[in-house]
Order: sequence, then C-alpha cells, then structure tokens
Amino acid sequence: MISILEENMFLKLTLAGAALLASVALPATAVNAQTIGFSQIGSESGWRAAETTLTRQQAKDRGIDLKFADAQQKQENQIKALRSFIAQGVDAILLAPVVATGWDQVLEEAKEAEIPVILLDRTVDAPDSLYMTAVTSDLVHEGRVAGEWLAAEVDGKDCKIVELQGTTGSSPAIDRKNGFEQGIADHSNLSIIRSQTGDFTRTKGKEVMESFLKAENGGKDICALYAHNDDMAVGAIQAIKEAGLKPGSDILVVSIDAVPDIFLAMAAGEANATVELTPNMAGPAFDVLEAFAKDGTLPPKWIQTESRLYTAADDPMAVYELKKSLGY
Ligand code: AHR
Repeated sequence: MISILEENMFLKLTLAGAALLASVALPATAVNAQTIGFSQIGSESGWRAAETTLTRQQAKDRGIDLKFADAQQKQENQIKALRSFIAQGVDAILLAPVVATGWDQVLEEAKEAEIPVILLDRTVDAPDSLYMTAVTSDLVHEGRVAGEWLAAEVDGKDCKIVELQGTTGSSPAIDRKNGFEQGIADHSNLSIIRSQTGDFTRTKGKEVMESFLKAENGGKDICALYAHNDDMAVGAIQAIKEAGLKPGSDILVVSIDAVPDIFLAMAAGEANATVELTPNMAGPAFDVLEAFAKDGTLPPKWIQTESRLYTAADDPMAVYELKKSLGY
C-alpha cells in the first residue's frame, strides 16, 4: 500500500513529467525527466570513477538534469550536499554513503521534504523507511567468494593471509571482512595474520602492504593478500615487487571490483582472482524513479546487482579490452 508521503512524492514526480510533456516533445525515455541530486563519495578508486562516468552518461541519455556533488571522502560534505539538494527541491537524491552510520537526521529531512533517496553501492545503518531502495551488490557474498576461492586454491596447505580493508566504517569494509572470514572459517590451515585499512586507494594499499612486508620477514611469511578492492591490490602488488617477491605466485592476490588494471596484472601473472562489482548502479536507480513517476510503483528495499568471480583462466587480456574504455 502507498503511504501519504509516497503518494505526495508520486504526485510531485508525475507533475514534473506532465509539465515537461506539455512544453516540449521529448524522446520516450525522457518523459519523466527529473532533476536528481547525486552525492558521490569522491574518486578513491577506478571503480568509483566508472560509477561516476556511467551515472552521468545514464542521466544524459534519459534527459535527467543531474546535480553532481563530490564529497572528497567526507561524510560532512555529503550531508551538506543532501541539504543543498533538499533546499533546491530536487525530485530525487542518489546517495553513495561513505560510511554506514550517521545518516538518520538528514534522511529524515529528505523524507520530510518528500524527496525519495536511493542508496548506491553501499548501505547505511538507518531504518529502511528513510530511503526508497538501495542498489548494491551482496557485499558479504563478495568477501565469501574471495575467501572460498583462496581456500580452494591453497588446497589444504598452510596459508598466512594479510588483509587490506576498505574505508573504516564503510559497509563494504565491514561486510567484505565478515564475508571473507566466513569463506575461510572451515579451513584451519588459513589464518589472517594482519589486517589494516588502506582506505580503498592505491597509495594507501601500497603503503600498508610495505608495512606488512617489513613486519613479516620481508614478506616471506605471507602466503596471500586479500584486498577489499582492486586499487589497493594494485598498490600492494607494486610493494611486493619492490620487496623482491613475485605477486601472484610468492604471494597470491585476491581482491574485489574487476577494474581493467587488475586484468592487466592477472595477464602478467601478478594477480590471481577478483570478484566483479558492476559500476552501473545508477541504471537500476533511474529505472525505479521512472516507474515510480509513471504509476507509483514502489521498488523492493534492496535491488541486488550481480557478483562474478574472475580468475586467470578467464582470458584476462580479453576482459581488459572489453572494460578499458568503460570509464574506469
Ligand atoms: O562501495 C564500493 C567500493 O567503493 C568499491 O569496491 C571500491 O573500489 C570503492 O571505493
């Protein structure tokens, strides 16, 4: 059943579409043209750059006026951006939340203003009545797939793992850690010996890996690296090479995202596996808003995107060629 709030939001979006229809002849995809605010985290990774590119592209193709705000990794900037979108009276807001907590108040304000909010790629610790839907992967599953891959790869041999976590307090860092631990839980030969944040960036990934290598006998005691994203893995691969070891064989490398550069590393034998996260989160979000504007259709609270494991057996150069011009 549609609540009064949702009915009002629907009316607002429908009127916006009707006004546009009355004034100009637009292609069918643009009949519900809206002004949508997008609070993006920043540009910490190749994956995020691709998400931004695709969101802009999708908005352009659909005749959406996208108001883009780059938060430079700061939650306070995201909260300011949301308040500014609310003040401007946008039709909807896309939010990629840098961390999981601390959103209730501003989401309440958006709800008060009858502006639907859609979460992109990360989740929040807030009641789901405060947002319309979340378009994300199963972040726990991604970590589990990475852990299960490693367990199968080492096949019973002892393996000491170092872990590069994503941004502290972010849902992918929390969930990918939990998922990986679940994936290796039944394998007593596997243990995580060091785990620290690399903030999802190449620079930090390299820096933290250097400290892991120093602390673990120059890296000789490390069997595998699990990184919560490919960018940190790419930085760490550089650190492993500089330490005189071979990434991909002396130290196995498994990570998440499937950005083009990890396929180059895989083709060179320097990375072993990655779990794909699609950067097209905005497509499903815009579909939802169009359906809602058309006839009030409400989406489920979670729209799950697919996750796929890639290994060196998947012709990494061919995947690289496919992905290299997609905005990463
Ligand atoms: O929330 C998705 C994660 O954020 C991506 O895996 C990572 O690369 C990005 O920074």
